Amino acid sequence: MRVQLTVNGTPRTADDVWPGESLLFMLRERLGLPGTKNACEQGECGSCTVLLDGLPVCSCLVAAPQAGDRDVVTVEGLAAPDRLHPVQEAFVEAGAVQCGFCTPGLIVTVADLIQRNPSADDAEIREALAGNLCRCTGYEKILDAVRLAAAKATA
Ligand code: FES
Ligand code: FES
Repeated sequence: MRVQLTVNGTPRTADDVWPGESLLFMLRERLGLPGTKNACEQGECGSCTVLLDGLPVCSCLVAAPQAGDRDVVTVEGLAAPDRLHPVQEAFVEAGAVQCGFCTPGLIVTVADLIQRNPSADDAEIREALAGNLCRCTGYEKILDAVRLAAAKATA
């Protein structure tokens, strides 16, 4: 089947999609957007997080046809052409990236949080990040990055 949607502000079409295919698979394998990572494919790790009509979702749990005629933003769509997104800058500056596998999902989640609640306290940050697992960092540097991104957003 054919699925037409908007991805990162651009109308896109994916052909030969099968009904049970995930949005994650369609983004990576049919639309050439490998930034969204595939780890558990069970909705447990958050590495596949994208914004669907402005809300963060695990794209491994969304059937690709469900995204038809909707708006998807992936990590590739966050930065400006000439500059990283402030959340990306904060992750680099805080040293919050090790292997990087969790990073795209975290960046999307944090960008959403900062947009909704730029003055989020630590409890709100931890709650927002509860669905994003990281095996490397111990989370402290990620929390530093979120605080830094929030400070940038409110400066
Ligand atoms: S790959 Fe989707 S939640 Fe882990
Ligand atoms: S940096 Fe490796 S899983 Fe998070």
